[in-house]
Amino acid sequence: MLLRRLPQVQRLCARRAFTSKTHYDEKIVYQYASQQLKPVSIGQLLKYSQPPLTPANILDSVAYTQSELPVRLAKRVISFHNLPFIVGTNPHIARVYNQYYEAFDRLYSFAPIDSIEREWEFARALERQTQLLVDVIPTIAQGFLECKQYMKREERALFINELIRSRIGLRVIGEQHVALSYQFRDQQRSSLEDVWVGAIHTKLLPASMMRQCAQLVQNMCEMHYGTAPSYYVDGDVDETISYIPSHFEYITCELLKNAFRATVEFSRQSHRLAHPPIQITITKGEGYVGVRIRDQGGGIAKDNMRNVFEYSWSTMQDDETSTAGMSLQTNLAMQQGIGGPIAGLGFGLPMARLYAGYFGGSLDIVSMEGYGCDVFLKLRSIEGSVEQKQI
Ligand SMILES: Nc1ncnc2c1ncn2[C@@H]1O[C@H](COP(=O)(O)OP(=O)(O)OP(=O)(O)O)[C@@H](O)[C@H]1O
Ligand SMILES: [Mg+2]
Repeated sequence: MLLRRLPQVQRLCARRAFTSKTHYDEKIVYQYASQQLKPVSIGQLLKYSQPPLTPANILDSVAYTQSELPVRLAKRVISFHNLPFIVGTNPHIARVYNQYYEAFDRLYSFAPIDSIEREWEFARALERQTQLLVDVIPTIAQGFLECKQYMKREERALFINELIRSRIGLRVIGEQHVALSYQFRDQQRSSLEDVWVGAIHTKLLPASMMRQCAQLVQNMCEMHYGTAPSYYVDGDVDETISYIPSHFEYITCELLKNAFRATVEFSRQSHRLAHPPIQITITKGEGYVGVRIRDQGGGIAKDNMRNVFEYSWSTMQDDETSTAGMSLQTNLAMQQGIGGPIAGLGFGLPMARLYAGYFGGSLDIVSMEGYGCDVFLKLRSIEGSVEQKQI
């Protein structure tokens, strides 16, 4: 789609912008990128990981992972070639491109794995790679913020949505194998109460995750503004869900950052003396868990409502999001497991909605202008209704 819309000359230029910086053999990337994906269902992934794990299970899992990830990475690399030239020269975008290229290079060069010892090596490489790709989202967000004027809104959204969806698939497949690899070596020690099935936590407690995330975001808010509201968690606090914790954390940290920021800024604007607390309510549904985050941060102006789910749209002033200031904050935020600064990239809501929707959940906002927002998040338990989901 994107490919068809961009003029040929522009595409070639963009490709040159990237390839001139690398010494990799492009032909191999194209060769891999032309292969068909082999989507896998969550149910199939879960089947691999039913205890007791045998060497054959692990070798099956590594064979799939090893053949699939380089193809997915190569397709992403090629997608960068189709960006307009000027976007390709942005240092943040070029950095992510190089990270994908290097990830591809590392994985495709592994010889086929035929022993448990070599599988361990591969799993370690995969694990290191996940660490290396940890800041892809804030980096790409910064890049697109700087290049906003060079791409149409829809083209930007198309590229980013594809990048993120494929990243979720890459991570789920990669992390699932790494988790299995550990589980296999650890199974003597694991008890019957083991709650992990690969990367999926089968008894995740949303209330406790929300407390942890709210604490992190509260610290971040204190650091940024010198003040922060309190929070509390109520509702079905003992409810559990089967989910990938990093996804849960990502979505809720983004929503909480918005709620904390709005509350502090609205207090300043309206000369309110004390910040009203942020209320986090957990509800239990049939096959899903609902989370409502309620703030009194003044809500969203009616005219802005249609923009809030758009990439790179933010009401944070540019000078507050300067690259220098941000990188320090971003680093800190990432060390704490949060994906970016308190606000300003305009990625939080569209990304959180994409993540929530990936496994059949949803994200909606109801704003009462002049008062505050209610954000409704619904996450489907991965075991059960989402098992057939292809990734
Ligand atoms: N709870 C809220 N109360 C008031 N305004 C909000 C709330 N949540 C989001 N917004 C508005 O929606 C905009 C977009 O939110 P989004 O999270 O996508 O981006 P951001 O917070 O500006 O940047 P970042 O990508 O760093 O999160 C915000 O800039 C803010 O104006
Ligand atoms: Mg935000």
